[in-house]
Amino acid sequence: MTELRLYMAQRLSALVMAPLVLGHIAVMIYAIQGGLSAAEILGRTQGSVLWALFYGSFVIAVSVHAAIGLRTILYEWAGMRGGVLNGVALGICALLLAMGLQAVYAVTAT
Ligand code: HEM
Repeated sequence: MTELRLYMAQRLSALVMAPLVLGHIAVMIYAIQGGLSAAEILGRTQGSVLWALFYGSFVIAVSVHAAIGLRTILYEWAGMRGGVLNGVALGICALLLAMGLQAVYAVTAT
């Protein structure tokens, strides 16, 4: 049951990431026209609830997706099992969430 839920969560997070990554590429192509500067990026992101939601959901989807995917690899390649396996996967998820959300806060807070 847990494995099925993780399988579903990983496919769902992939579904969430697919349009976000396309949006991200589109913004990158638009943003580099005429050079790229920190001031320009922060001018777009600071104080924007929309960008905070965009990058925040991106971070959450990647954290869930990567932790579940790496859990499978740790199971198959490193022979990890049970509590150690789930603990390491949760640790990876927490680390990615902490770093990612901190970065989102840094560029969107005013
Ligand atoms: C836009 C970004 C991404 C998309 C659309 C995406 C999509 C997917 C999809 C559809 C699968 C399932 C493939 C299958 O059915 O076997 C998958 C598996 C996987 N993804 Fe991603 N992915 C993305 C980013 C990432 C990132 C950043 C990581 C970082 C670790 C990652 C790690 C993995 C791993 C390890 C698996 C294999 C899991 C398994 O075999 O059970 N993916 N991804």
